[in-house]
Amino acid sequence: MLRFHLAEDTIDQKDIDRLIEWLKGTPRLTKDKLNVLFENQWSRWIGRKFSAFCNSGSSANLLMYYALLLSGKLKNKKVIVPATGWVTTIAPAIQFGFEPILCESDPDTFGLNLDHLEKLLKKHEPSAVTMVQVLGIPHKMNAVMALKKKYRFILLEDACASIGSTFFGRKIGTFGDMSSFSFYFGHQMSTIEGGMVSTDNPLFRDLLLMLRSHGWSKDLDPVSHQKLVKKYRVNDDHKPFVFYEPGLNLRSTDLNAFLGLRQLEKLEWMISRRHANHLRYQKHLGERFRIQQCKDPDATLSSISFCMLAKNSVERHSLAAALTKNGIETRLFTAGNLGRHPFWFNRYGKPDFPVADQLYQCGIFLPNNPALDAQGVDFISKIVLEASCRKKSS
Ligand SMILES: Cc1ncc(COP(=O)(O)O)c(C=O)c1O
Repeated sequence: MLRFHLAEDTIDQKDIDRLIEWLKGTPRLTKDKLNVLFENQWSRWIGRKFSAFCNSGSSANLLMYYALLLSGKLKNKKVIVPATGWVTTIAPAIQFGFEPILCESDPDTFGLNLDHLEKLLKKHEPSAVTMVQVLGIPHKMNAVMALKKKYRFILLEDACASIGSTFFGRKIGTFGDMSSFSFYFGHQMSTIEGGMVSTDNPLFRDLLLMLRSHGWSKDLDPVSHQKLVKKYRVNDDHKPFVFYEPGLNLRSTDLNAFLGLRQLEKLEWMISRRHANHLRYQKHLGERFRIQQCKDPDATLSSISFCMLAKNSVERHSLAAALTKNGIETRLFTAGNLGRHPFWFNRYGKPDFPVADQLYQCGIFLPNNPALDAQGVDFISKIVLEASCRKKSS
């Protein structure tokens, strides 16, 4: 029987009770006013001008790439993508016919490797770079932003697993020209399924809102909507149902937005629990194992799972066995090198990335969630340390 899960639902009984009360009022369930309210409150919380709520973090990434494609801002279709992240950090680049160029991982944060990134920027002069803020540990954003300024690329920031982390006081998810977030179960907050894209750019905002919903203009503010009506000389009868772009339907519902609004009320508390657990794991395991390192000593580390590296895959196997035996759920970091997955190597071949390979072969996750307390972290760390000693002496 599992005593410690990697993730626990952040939608608790109180949230369910409030949802039931709300449903009794027979509200509109499809996308309506609560979506807009959630988007506005999210924008305020994260510190960006605009946000578009959608049905998953993967859809948020899809929307970012699609808005980028139609923005008229591309000098070519090259985009640098990270070796460490998630399949849907990269998949839309393939789906929309970009030329994705894989970048090695950073040995400290596991984000983009900055030396390799600069080499790729010089060689390919890409229009865009997609980065992942890995597992809630902020990347070296001063250096990333300096490269952005020097090489003038558009930055897509996948912060799907890093809600609430900060780097020198600035929230993760506010660095990209567009930034994505996931509200899936087990992430820092949940709307069951859900995602968000945030931006300060009104062109991206309008494209995101149109592409999310069939390519029509119904979600735009009246000024943007009217511009399109005028540009295409749309008559009054046709106005609401003109398809300006070949859109998708990636909308969420007001039911999910209701949950999102309630999650925002306790988000700071949930982040502080993750941060405290992460620091405690660091204290217990940081000397024995390689773990993620953040350059900002005062950063908020809203970690989604605690990631550590075993010495090799044999040690990782025995750590995983000891954890499972003691009722502790664990997971290998198989997305540590996306280049090792068929979706990538069948198209582009196998990359030779020592850091990402090590994450793929030796990375292992320990539970972190707001329900986990200091005692739990102490117990899990003890099991890891004992298993590691046993391995050494055997
Ligand atoms: C970095 C990253 N990007 C994107 C996603 C996709 O989010 P979702 O599961 O909401 O589609 C995930 C999911 O864990 C992720 O970790």
